[in-house]
Amino acid sequence: MYDSNPTLEGLKTIDEAKQGNVLFKEHWQESSVPGEKKFYIESYGCQMNFSDSEIVASILSDVGYSPTRNMEDSDLILINTCSIREKAEETVRKRLRVFDVLKKQRPGLVVGILGCMAERLKKKWLEEEKLVDLVVGPDAYRDLPNLIGSAEDGHRMVNVLLSREETYADISPVRLETNGITAFISIMRGCDNMCSFCVVPFTRGRERSRDPFSVLAEATNLFENGYREVMLLGQNVDSYKWDNPETGQHVDFADLLELVAQVHPSLRVRFSTSHPKDMSDKVLYTMARHHNICKYIHLPVQSGNSRVLDMMNRTYDRPWCEQRIEAIRRILPEATVSSDIITGFCTETEEEHQDTLSIVEWANFSMAYMFYYSERPGTLAARKYADDIPEDVKKRRLNEVIRLQTAISLRHNQADIGKTFEVLIEGNSRKSDADFCGRNTQNKVLVFPKKPGLKPGDYVQVTVKDATSATLLGEIEA
Ligand code: 5AD
Ligand code: SF4
Repeated sequence: MYDSNPTLEGLKTIDEAKQGNVLFKEHWQESSVPGEKKFYIESYGCQMNFSDSEIVASILSDVGYSPTRNMEDSDLILINTCSIREKAEETVRKRLRVFDVLKKQRPGLVVGILGCMAERLKKKWLEEEKLVDLVVGPDAYRDLPNLIGSAEDGHRMVNVLLSREETYADISPVRLETNGITAFISIMRGCDNMCSFCVVPFTRGRERSRDPFSVLAEATNLFENGYREVMLLGQNVDSYKWDNPETGQHVDFADLLELVAQVHPSLRVRFSTSHPKDMSDKVLYTMARHHNICKYIHLPVQSGNSRVLDMMNRTYDRPWCEQRIEAIRRILPEATVSSDIITGFCTETEEEHQDTLSIVEWANFSMAYMFYYSERPGTLAARKYADDIPEDVKKRRLNEVIRLQTAISLRHNQADIGKTFEVLIEGNSRKSDADFCGRNTQNKVLVFPKKPGLKPGDYVQVTVKDATSATLLGEIEA
């Protein structure tokens, strides 16, 4: 077994964390202070991008900008982009055309591109097509106030420098679009893996971990402001590492998880994303020790075939992956596992595709994000391999995986009928104000009729009465 109850040298109590330099800013309120400037931001892609938009909102609020949901009303329009798949780029291009119409009507309006597409498309969109005034990469957000100032003077501005140090640790995110109950906390940035299909190491740079003091301070502040769940975010959380420069103390992901779990037993802790090559038993035992660390692991396997995994440069093979899922089943029998799958990667044969179907069946994922391979410029795969699987074959294989996973998700959910779960109420269900929705520790969404006296942020016991492949339908226990 591993040591429990770690403390952070230099931080004796959680109270000290509260005195850290991270101050909580109340989630956004539309302000109508005359003369104050407004920004409108749209975010695409992964949770990390949404979390980054909250850092941007904080930096902008320090220089007098407040958020608006109405782009017609704004002085600054920002689009936080994703470039993980080609489709994401097409979406951004369409949005830029819409903003361009607005820009022509309102010459003072500044339009900027943030995030992963910044580096690759800066020349095209800024210089050639003149669609935007600003292009700012994920490590340059502190420079935004300067860049906006120059853009207002009519200059086109770019900062896409990547950093080895920037973690925005001292910046307290302004929570955008929040339900007031669940929040993201970025614990690291960038990625040092070189999965051959993936553009992230190029767009987000080298991996760096945020200091645990600031993570704890942010979690504590969120709890004190009524939040009841934090999601720790990183491209590969299992490789989180931080060495205290003063004491030499080493903090790994399991230690960080335990520290955050100790903020309060009523604060749920989730995390994403885990990597099969790095997910350790120490993390699993830490999860087992704490009721408030949710029993759910997002573990992208990508493929079920060892040769394809090798070409993807995932640095694990199928038996390794199975052995990691078996460790989860052994140490955390109640946990659910979800995954990411890519179909039609370069040279994938029909037989190898069958291996993906068979690992999906074997693993019994509660759900999965499924994609067909789309070649990204600059990646290892784009340089080394021909994108040789015809699009109709990629899509047919994807549909086969989706069909199988949908059936498995339904089976998984139907097995919960009759069980009672502790559910954190997050708000009204999307379909009806008469129902609440929330999730159980396994990250399954439950919808159930409201009862008087209960509110978002409360924990309730809900018994499952029915299930679809996406949702459990239940009733609160008397
Ligand atoms: N093509 C298809 N899917 C991809 N992903 C990442 N890059 C690509 C690509 N080039 C998927 C992976 C990853 C998820 C976030 O997106 O499954 O885990
Ligand atoms: Fe991309 Fe692989 Fe890093 Fe995930 S672990 S962000 S798939 S390079």
